[in-house]
Amino acid sequence: MIAPLKIAHMEPRLPIIQGGMAVRVSTGKLAAAVAKAGGIGTIAGTGLTLSELTEEIRKARALTEGIGYIGVNVLFAVKQFAELVKRAMQEKVDFIVSGAGFSRDMFDWGREYGVPVIPIVSSSRLAKLAEKLGAAAVVVEGEEAGGHLGTDRPLAEILPEVASSVNIPIIAAGGLTDGQDIAAAMKLGASGAQLATRFVLSEECEAHPNFKQMYLSANQDDVVLIESPVGLPGRALRNQLTDLIRRGEVRVKKCDQCLKRCSAKYCILDVLKKSVAGDTVNGLVFAGKNVFKIKNILPVKTIMDKLAGELAAALT
Ligand SMILES: Cc1cc2nc3c(=O)[nH]c(=O)nc-3n(C[C@H](O)[C@H](O)[C@H](O)COP(=O)(O)O)c2cc1C
Repeated sequence: MIAPLKIAHMEPRLPIIQGGMAVRVSTGKLAAAVAKAGGIGTIAGTGLTLSELTEEIRKARALTEGIGYIGVNVLFAVKQFAELVKRAMQEKVDFIVSGAGFSRDMFDWGREYGVPVIPIVSSSRLAKLAEKLGAAAVVVEGEEAGGHLGTDRPLAEILPEVASSVNIPIIAAGGLTDGQDIAAAMKLGASGAQLATRFVLSEECEAHPNFKQMYLSANQDDVVLIESPVGLPGRALRNQLTDLIRRGEVRVKKCDQCLKRCSAKYCILDVLKKSVAGDTVNGLVFAGKNVFKIKNILPVKTIMDKLAGELAAALT
């Protein structure tokens, strides 16, 4: 039997969260489909203007017709962090998730607006701090995850440490692609799982078909780590851009000063926007370590039903 996940007021039918993916990879459309299929959907706020974020939240609401739960993910590293988080809270989203840094302030804002806050952590030290500050749950992310990484340790190593350190729900993330993976994470102390890469290969994900094609044709050796201007490593698919980054040959053409701190070696939002718009040569295609295991684009409902079936079988 699948144990129910409960985070603050949220009790989804399935203990599955779709991870936030910056710059329009996870939009209102994807988040709504996951919420409607019994999970929890996440809109990425990073890279959107305040009015674009409002629009995505309202679009998701209209699509779900009140079914399920929708949250917003904002990277702590962006300058507009406070404004984006507060706007999402004013729109009364079900929760806020944040990674790539740690904000103490967001817990105060969460109390002020009555919105649960879920930080992404990669150590028991940060998980304990999050619990102390009032986190409703923590996402524990291992090095297998796509995008910016806060650790070089595998999920299976970090999970038991966090599980013995905190009493709030733990959501496992990083490299989980099927129900067996989710069951394994639950056996190590997680109450739920956050998947992102699996949902890129869904019909409802609005990333360009070229972006999805990169995923479909990826082999294990195509998944690489690059240095992001944010000051963290990032997991992505190898292409011309990642080769240039690794050789230190990529240059910034224009800068919107979007990050609180930036190495200024290249513009992270610019290269993410390029790939989502279809330029998978000059754009950065973030992806999880196990992307090569997923070989089909499916409707979200089919993905969720499949994950639920595999999870139930693995837990009996
Ligand atoms: C394309 C892509 C973009 C991502 N963007 C963000 C982001 O903006 N903020 C964030 O906290 N995590 C981001 N992540 C991490 C995911 O939310 C998730 O935690 C992680 O990728 C889970 O591992 P998986 O992709 O192997 O399932 C991104 C991941 C991918 C694949």
